[in-house]
Amino acid sequence: MSKNIKILQDKLEKAKLGGGLKRIEKQHAKKKLTARERVDYLLDEGSFEEIGALVTHRTTDFDMQKQIYYGDGVVTGYGTVNGKLVYVYAQDFTVFGGALSETHAEKICKLMDHALKVGAPIIGLNDSGGARIQEGVRSLGGYADIFYRNVQASGVIPQISAIMGPCAGGAVYSPAITDFTFMVENTSYMFVTGPNVVKTVTNEEVTSEELGGASTHSTKSGVTHFTSVNDVECLEHIKKLLSYIPQNNTETAEKLKVSLDDETRKELDSLIPDSPNKPYDMHDVIKGIIDTDSFFEVHKNYAENILVGFSRLGGRSVGIVANQPMSLAGVLDVDASKKAARFVRFCDAFNIPLLVLVDVPGFLPGTDQEWNGIILHGAKLLYALSEATVPRVTVITRKAYGGAYDVMNSKHIGADLNFAWPTAEIAVMGAKGASEIIFRKEIQDAEDPELKLSEKEAEYAETFANPFKAAQRGFIDEVIMPKETRRKLLKAFAMLENKSVQRPKRKHGNIPL
Ligand code: COA
Repeated sequence: MSKNIKILQDKLEKAKLGGGLKRIEKQHAKKKLTARERVDYLLDEGSFEEIGALVTHRTTDFDMQKQIYYGDGVVTGYGTVNGKLVYVYAQDFTVFGGALSETHAEKICKLMDHALKVGAPIIGLNDSGGARIQEGVRSLGGYADIFYRNVQASGVIPQISAIMGPCAGGAVYSPAITDFTFMVENTSYMFVTGPNVVKTVTNEEVTSEELGGASTHSTKSGVTHFTSVNDVECLEHIKKLLSYIPQNNTETAEKLKVSLDDETRKELDSLIPDSPNKPYDMHDVIKGIIDTDSFFEVHKNYAENILVGFSRLGGRSVGIVANQPMSLAGVLDVDASKKAARFVRFCDAFNIPLLVLVDVPGFLPGTDQEWNGIILHGAKLLYALSEATVPRVTVITRKAYGGAYDVMNSKHIGADLNFAWPTAEIAVMGAKGASEIIFRKEIQDAEDPELKLSEKEAEYAETFANPFKAAQRGFIDEVIMPKETRRKLLKAFAMLENKSVQRPKRKHGNIPL
């Protein structure tokens, strides 16, 4: 055997071991997979090709030349998921705690440049103690090189981040820019400053998990879109997400072959309760429309008054945005508007048609909402839908009140087809509130004001608590039987497949942020 072949073999063996067996054992003891195990699990068997296994850091400060590990704390390369090319990097916590050095960052940047040139998704599996402390500003520069590429790739190739260990300080900003973030419960956390600094500055006592664990970010902040109980489930979720999205912004998501014999869904005819104040679960509407078991919900536990997620209709990937009457009666508030707007923009950037299901009583009133900028945040959803050029179809199942009617993919802001169920109420507000305002004097002067109010309420409801006025004006294209919704939508999205819209030339719009 030639000497160099032996040398190469030795180096590659060492690279495979990362920071060594002891540290690998420690990683396993924390119920975490190693970087290489994660990559192997994520990619199709035998498809991984590594790039940069022999890279080492160049630091000599603090005697660092004595601590050399091949790969320098990050495994980078490409492979396939369900036969489709993806680029992946996985930080190796066994090497300097996965801390990011100049060379570690260079490896990630090289991969990002490849992904952008070729047009394929990039997936980052993060598990890192942050900036490599021994390298100082060189490490900070490395982060910024990554952030810059994240921004250039935004809307061009899908970018996915999984947080599978620590992710703190500057490290959080790459996941924040990418399209979807996944976190693993109890083994991952993300924060700009950790519990010790928090204690010093604000005197708050908080654990890492409370401050930035998966449950915090999936419910309170919305920083993460998905949480998983362990590494394996997290990697499974990433694979599932990839099945709904295209390789890049010039392609469409793969259309699966499905049999279309089950187009009428009778159960939808009896789903809306008689009382307009009684909630029902919008998941049941979604289930009654889409291909069996195809709803993949995004941001499931955050702003539950709106549902967003991917689904399939006749095998075609479709993004769904839907008010959820089960939570806060389905109102639009700050968090719901932000959640839906971001999802709409992803779908539009990556050619995924949009279905909007509407049952919205309006925007949530109150000082909390006004002082937190519901005006600006609500405008985000309005803006995102108005600028979306993908096929856009709306179904109003029940309430479509006030400004929220306009925002929720109305005809006026460019929706292609607007359907309403016979149970739809398209009005400025609910019948009671409306009567109290416009018939105030009449009600006050009446012998029995209560009776008068209910008469007027009935009169207003008769006039506006239906979809027919809107249909007369053409604001609703068709009032449809609920059981026919799936059939109508299959045809609508097939008809809209070649939709093409040209916008005026501009550098970029100025979405209210
Ligand atoms: N730079 C260089 N080495 C680092 C590092 C960093 N930012 N973070 C961790 N390491 C090293 C540790 O020195 C240790 O090395 P060893 O295996 O040779 O002993 C190894 O990574 C594992 O770290 P350890 O502290 O033992 O792991 P832990 O699970 O107990 O704690 C952290 C993990 C991330 C909470 C902890 O390492 C930490 O606080 N790191 C610093 C975070 C930071 O302030 N980063 C810079 C700002 S972004």
